[in-house]
Amino acid sequence: MGERPIIEPFRVHTVQAISMPSREVREEALRRSHYNLFGLRAEEVTVDLLTDSGTGAMSTRQWAGMMLGDESYAGSPSFFRFEEVVRDLTGFSEVIPTHQGRAAEKILFSVLADKGHVVVNNNHFDTTRANVEYRGAEARDLVAAEGSDPALVAPFKGNMDIAALRSSLEADGDRIPLVLVTVTNNAGGGQPVSMANLRAVRQVCDEYDVPFFLDACRFAENAWFIKTREEGYADRTPKEIAQEMFSLADGCTMSAKKDGLANIGGFLALNDDRVAVECRNLLILTEGFPTYGGLAGYDLEAIAQGLVEVLDEDYLRYRTRSVEYLAEKVAAGGVPIVQPPGGHAVFVDAGALLPRIPPHEYPAHSLAVEFYREGGVRGVELGSLAFGVPQEDGTEVPAAMELVRLAIPRRTYTQSHIDYVAEVVLDVAARAGSIGGYRIVEQAPWLRHFTARLEPVAAGPGG
Ligand code: F0G
Repeated sequence: MGERPIIEPFRVHTVQAISMPSREVREEALRRSHYNLFGLRAEEVTVDLLTDSGTGAMSTRQWAGMMLGDESYAGSPSFFRFEEVVRDLTGFSEVIPTHQGRAAEKILFSVLADKGHVVVNNNHFDTTRANVEYRGAEARDLVAAEGSDPALVAPFKGNMDIAALRSSLEADGDRIPLVLVTVTNNAGGGQPVSMANLRAVRQVCDEYDVPFFLDACRFAENAWFIKTREEGYADRTPKEIAQEMFSLADGCTMSAKKDGLANIGGFLALNDDRVAVECRNLLILTEGFPTYGGLAGYDLEAIAQGLVEVLDEDYLRYRTRSVEYLAEKVAAGGVPIVQPPGGHAVFVDAGALLPRIPPHEYPAHSLAVEFYREGGVRGVELGSLAFGVPQEDGTEVPAAMELVRLAIPRRTYTQSHIDYVAEVVLDVAARAGSIGGYRIVEQAPWLRHFTARLEPVAAGPGG
């Protein structure tokens, strides 16, 4: 009450125009892209909330750093600057740059995971799951039960179910090459993991002598939630908290496109020098020499600076507040969302909003299409189109939840953009009863949501 707004802790230095396509243009774009939002041209979108990955704005200091980029093939000073920042933050001795997060995953699992293995995580992100499965291993999700209940308000819904982790290690310990925890838990609504939970994972991994890695893409947002929600951390800096998180793990994979505040990049960092040697051998095969790993020297500079800026308290306060602000607005209008909002996105519960559309007609996809149709707002479907499993008899096992993710790029949109998005969401919700489902006309054998062609099912109750 009476508190002043939490403002953007920056001012605009360069602007980039966004498009305002008319309703006719949007309708035509939907038809042309076969109702798949990945098929739109970005100029056909007004506010693009498809992802928070690589879509943020860099700071003047990052751009200045890019001018210092040294493009030497081997031994670039930009690499050593990057390495120093990553070591200082994570404490891990071995730092391996990659072109993005999934490349770090691919290399790590190529070294550690094999056919018949089981990789445990709170929730695997889709590229992480795909890279585990590509090795012939099982990707097992063990998020605590409260993490699967969208409406339940709890501070750390990304936590690992420690009892389930213990049972998995007890039953399959010799087949589990590593345990991962994703901070924040993207596939589970961007929910944070508490320090107490990370400590418990560490302890169980020690008992069974299994390495523990963080999928650290959104480590700074996670650190902020620990600071503001977990007892004993209010007076610690985000950096100290992040350092403590990393100190509990043996290594991490990282997409610098999120909390690296960069447009491209990632890394793998770890303490085991023997595993690191094997990883570097693969790195040379697919990414590049170990002092650039698929990145330009200027990218390494941008990431090094981004990893420092992302831990700024004013930034993190604004960042989490801007997501919460959108969540509050749509929730106040009666739109069901995953509660509490995560660190990088608002997840709208399409299953609850469009109960008449059955999972095999993809309610979350319908809702995502309507957000675009209504106001040129592009989110992403995280429901049965992305995660449903087609069966041989032509039926499908639906996803656990039918969600549309509205991911907020970092430092990119202003409060009025967010107000606009909230109005679009509320206008669509007001006509939820007349929204129909979709059927797939054409699909790829895996990761079908990226390229599937769809068409509307004739409108009418249940169809
Ligand atoms: N792990 C998590 C938790 C992620 O969210 C992502 C990417 C990755 C790994 C892979 O990183 O894209 O650099 O290869 N998430 C993006 C998203 C694509 O939209 O959530 P990447």
